[in-house]
Amino acid sequence: MRRSALHLSLRFLETVRKPKLHEVDDSWAHSKLSPSEIDLWTNMSSSDRHHCISVAKNVEKILPNEQVVIQAALLHDIGKSEASSSALFRVFATIISFFISQKLAHNWMNSRALGRQVGQYLCYPSVGAELLKLAGSDPFVCAWANEHHFEQRNWTVDRYLGRILEAADEQTNWKSRL
Ligand SMILES: [Fe+2]
Ligand SMILES: [Fe+2]
Repeated sequence: MRRSALHLSLRFLETVRKPKLHEVDDSWAHSKLSPSEIDLWTNMSSSDRHHCISVAKNVEKILPNEQVVIQAALLHDIGKSEASSSALFRVFATIISFFISQKLAHNWMNSRALGRQVGQYLCYPSVGAELLKLAGSDPFVCAWANEHHFEQRNWTVDRYLGRILEAADEQTNWKSRL
């Protein structure tokens, strides 16, 4: 897993800031998703939905006709819907992530109480990919949810599309700070 300290810090600021989610934007997201994806979408916190909409709109500017790539942008963080949206919890879990392996985090998902919550948050990309597979999402959408924090050399997704999605994600974090 690769998550820069800068990326994590900016996402934290975005979570704390609790940007307002406009109904028109949420409706736009719904129009891009299947009914089962909308069920997952509505479980995400409003700050996570706000972030994902911003990423998807950045992608749409570059690839207006690539609906699957726009869906991938909207749903890349969907695994967070299974974890606490509390900013303090996320900081706590992120600090722990610097001291434990990904394998241990996976094992914690099967434990109880706090360990389970931390494991679910730290493994949210793979959790999200599984949710999307169950929802019948496009294989590209599932793959990007799982791989969006991987090093590029470990991507199975098309690199050109992956780079656009990754840049849109990073750009959104910067903008949210301004
Ligand atoms: Fe992410
Ligand atoms: Fe993201």
